[in-house]
Amino acid sequence: MKQLPTVTTEQLSAQRTVIARIAARNLLLGEQLAYVDTYGCQQNEADSEHLRAMLSGMGYVLTEDETAANVIVINTCAVREHAEQRVLGNVGHLVHSAKAGRRIVLCGCMAQKPDTREVILRSYRQVDLMFGPHELWRFPELLERSLNAPDGTKIIEARDIDGEQVEGLPALRSKGERAWLSIMYGCNNFCSYCIVPYVRGRERSRSKAAITAEYESLAAEGYSEVMLLGQNVNSYPEFPGLLRTLAAIDRRVKLSFRTSHPKDAGTELFRAMADSPNVDTLLHLPVQAGNDRVLSAMNRKYTSAEYIAKIRQAREIVPGIRFSTDIIVGFPGETDAEFEDTLRLVEAVRYEKLFTFIYSPRKGTPAAELPDNASRAEKQIRFDKLIALQKSIAATL
Ligand code: SAH
Ligand code: SF4
Ligand code: F3S
Repeated sequence: MKQLPTVTTEQLSAQRTVIARIAARNLLLGEQLAYVDTYGCQQNEADSEHLRAMLSGMGYVLTEDETAANVIVINTCAVREHAEQRVLGNVGHLVHSAKAGRRIVLCGCMAQKPDTREVILRSYRQVDLMFGPHELWRFPELLERSLNAPDGTKIIEARDIDGEQVEGLPALRSKGERAWLSIMYGCNNFCSYCIVPYVRGRERSRSKAAITAEYESLAAEGYSEVMLLGQNVNSYPEFPGLLRTLAAIDRRVKLSFRTSHPKDAGTELFRAMADSPNVDTLLHLPVQAGNDRVLSAMNRKYTSAEYIAKIRQAREIVPGIRFSTDIIVGFPGETDAEFEDTLRLVEAVRYEKLFTFIYSPRKGTPAAELPDNASRAEKQIRFDKLIALQKSIAATL
């Protein structure tokens, strides 16, 4: 894995100075409220925990009432059109509750996508500050710039970079049983339908020492479940070894991980799961499709036979293992017959849970350029068939 530039301790400490400056100003203003709304995957949830920690350091009191907030942060997802529409609908509502000095911040994956950025600039003038995932650690500096600017000023920051190594950002975790722990960021797989590698940058891993230290403190704080996060945790160098090490720290903590790419999941991973009784036996292994031509056009780098062989191997090695998966219905060019292969694969594997999505073209990805002959209605019929099949399987589990 290529080493990307590191954000230095000096750079982070400069951000802490900004945090203190905003805190001093908020002290004079009286109670200031902040609201953080999160869309998308667990990575975004984890990023929002960093945003909350920074906001709370600035003296903001976190609220669940967006109409009362002085700072509204919307941490967005660009993975499908539907996710973007939900965000835009919500931003649209906010225009009606404008108040002087309020700042609306739109960050996350949508802010890193040029076509979406354009739409927001054009049609959602109430957004004051927009920044992409690479700027997360610079949030204090960017918010201060926005606070210092006259109402109505727009600030946009989304560097077109591969990403940086960032270590030591504070996190304000929600109380509860489960904590997220990011072990790597970005993605190098470039599945042909997927926007994530473009908005999240190249793969970069945290050091084993940093992950272990954070895990130990989570266990000491009493979290009973920790989920390791990455777009493809199996790309982490020697992931099975990391899993064994963490699992052995405290056997009372239930350990899970997301997501695993099937091409990199193998016997070492299954053995580590089998040897660690506190690792969750529900393995999320996204297959996306059951037809080899479609899998190849998706750039997934495995065949359905290879996938099923891995499932069989995992069942042999890990007692009680169960599976969940993601499936895309209606990839460009998918025929009814090819879709039937997905149904057959689902029948063969017998998943405990399916996450199913109708294909959504993402501008900038190769699949968005492919001809797509199936209508939305045809795709919906396939989608419904898949749901019905899964329902009948789940009833027998
Ligand atoms: N890194 C993870 C998940 C990334 S996004 C992985 O590889 O499994 C989560 C899911 O969204 C994907 O697994 C895929 O099923 C779905 N997805 C991604 N891009 C999509 C698109 N353009 N249209 C429909 N579904 C998509
Ligand atoms: Fe997207 Fe594929 Fe990367 Fe997952 S592995 S984030 S689906 S490109
Ligand atoms: Fe969405 Fe970004 Fe996650 S596009 S799925 S929030 S990495």
